Amino acid sequence: MPAIKNVNVSHPFSDQKPGTSGLRKSTKKFLEKHYLEIFIESILSSLDNVEGSTIIVGGDGRYGNDNAIKKIVQICSAHKVGTIIVPTRGLLSTPAASNLIRDYSAIGGIILSASHNPGGLEGDFGVKLNVSNGGPAPEFVTEKIYTYSQSLTSYKLIDVEIPNLKDEGSFTIHQTKLEIIDGVQSYVSLMEDIFDFDQIGDFLKNDFSIVFDAMNAVTGPYAKRIFVDRIGLSDQCLLNSEPMPDFGNLHPDPNLTYANKLADLLLNKKLYSFGAACDGDGDRNMILGKGCFVNPSDSLAVITANTGLVPGYKKGISGVARSMPTSMAVDVVAKELDIPCYETPTGWKFFGNLLDSGKITICGEESFGTGSNHVREKDGLWAVLFWLQILAQKKCSVTDLMQNHWLHFGRNYYTRHDYESIPSEVAHQIYQDLENQLQKLNGAHFASSVITQADNYSYVDPIDKSLSDKQGLRLVLDNGSRIILRLSGTGTKGSTLRLYFERPSKSQNDLFLDPQIALKDLIIGIDHLLNIKQLTKMNIPTVIT
Ligand code: G1P
Ligand code: ZN
Repeated sequence: MPAIKNVNVSHPFSDQKPGTSGLRKSTKKFLEKHYLEIFIESILSSLDNVEGSTIIVGGDGRYGNDNAIKKIVQICSAHKVGTIIVPTRGLLSTPAASNLIRDYSAIGGIILSASHNPGGLEGDFGVKLNVSNGGPAPEFVTEKIYTYSQSLTSYKLIDVEIPNLKDEGSFTIHQTKLEIIDGVQSYVSLMEDIFDFDQIGDFLKNDFSIVFDAMNAVTGPYAKRIFVDRIGLSDQCLLNSEPMPDFGNLHPDPNLTYANKLADLLLNKKLYSFGAACDGDGDRNMILGKGCFVNPSDSLAVITANTGLVPGYKKGISGVARSMPTSMAVDVVAKELDIPCYETPTGWKFFGNLLDSGKITICGEESFGTGSNHVREKDGLWAVLFWLQILAQKKCSVTDLMQNHWLHFGRNYYTRHDYESIPSEVAHQIYQDLENQLQKLNGAHFASSVITQADNYSYVDPIDKSLSDKQGLRLVLDNGSRIILRLSGTGTKGSTLRLYFERPSKSQNDLFLDPQIALKDLIIGIDHLLNIKQLTKMNIPTVIT
């Protein structure tokens, strides 16, 4: 039997603090000697009952995926993990990982992904830990991992060759079983339990054309199994469906800037009735109709309003939750449905306790993330199927569905402006400037209204009572408008400033404006207050959603 090898490292790493979603760094950083290994050793040190347990390992296929998986298998074996489950080709979307953790009663999963950040040698890499409920590790766990990483100067591994990950099979490494499985099947079965694929198929084959852009990332194989093999559409409906280590140079973030080819097909050329895209690791989604972009905050509201049309939710939903910067469109729906609506800080990990305790069924974020209690992650393909099921039931277009929704519930005009990778000093200066002014802004006139609340958002988890403070600067106006400013916790270059603008519609005659026009007073007002254009030397944000 191969022996356990101890590897000494000359110094611990001081920069392995997980952000909004795991540890995310440049690919080159992760290739530094012992960098990945120490983080994995820190993860295993922070988990209880590792010996004999089951752990899921997989990733979004970006550069370094396979090597990292093999290294993790070696380290997990040295820690006497009982079973390691790895999907073929090492490909595992984040929601599918969440599902496998729950399916196998694993103590957790290690997901290799930098989500929507570019991949390849010049791009980013990342490691996320999900815990036994299938969801992202909560803050007290990531803090523990960080603490270990700052003092660890050695790790252990079993130094044996790991089989290639191409084919399914069962292997023994030291005392550990390595199972290479079909990573797609169990996720597709879960989708089939929730949705009526036959009804969706009948609708799509009847003159309702769709196109799905996998952005050369992980959702390609899942989409192929669902739309082509199971629902029976031609594979012409799939774009960029072969996962590539550098995502074919695409930036796998499904928004109007980075998925601009898809946006052009739907919004300008109007070639399809429905279009959708997912991000690198498959947890985000963008929904488009012919000539119609669906804002993710609206998507959450539409999904919540229509759960009765989807077989998996026919029994009703207990409640909903949205992240603080997400628009309040879903609050309006929840009020009518007479169910609770929770507000949480940014990041999926804050939904975990609410889902586990059964307080909510559906949740979402403005950043193209929607999901439910079927897993403990946001789920891109689930959202796409949800939309298709609603459309198949109602037999209508995306535009009709959106317009009818606004006519019934009113509209929350919404936009997010991202200033990406700006110098950190500039981002912090702008943030600090607003934070310093909060007190005096309370009660001040702003954009033809009055600021009734100016604060730095803090949250007490209703279940475990943990406090998360400094979660975003927020200005709430008398007319229901909101402006929020945050610094991104997922970027790897400089700092990214995010500004969120929202205003509720005033009447039935105020429903169909371009959001940039509808929100212009707020947008101009905040620039006036903080001098953003001048300080960032940018006339327009990098990404407008
Ligand atoms: C971003 C999004 C956030 C999401 C996270 C992970 O985080 O804004 O909603 O949960 O990515 O997908 P941020 O970069 O803003 O910290
Ligand atoms: Zn993602």
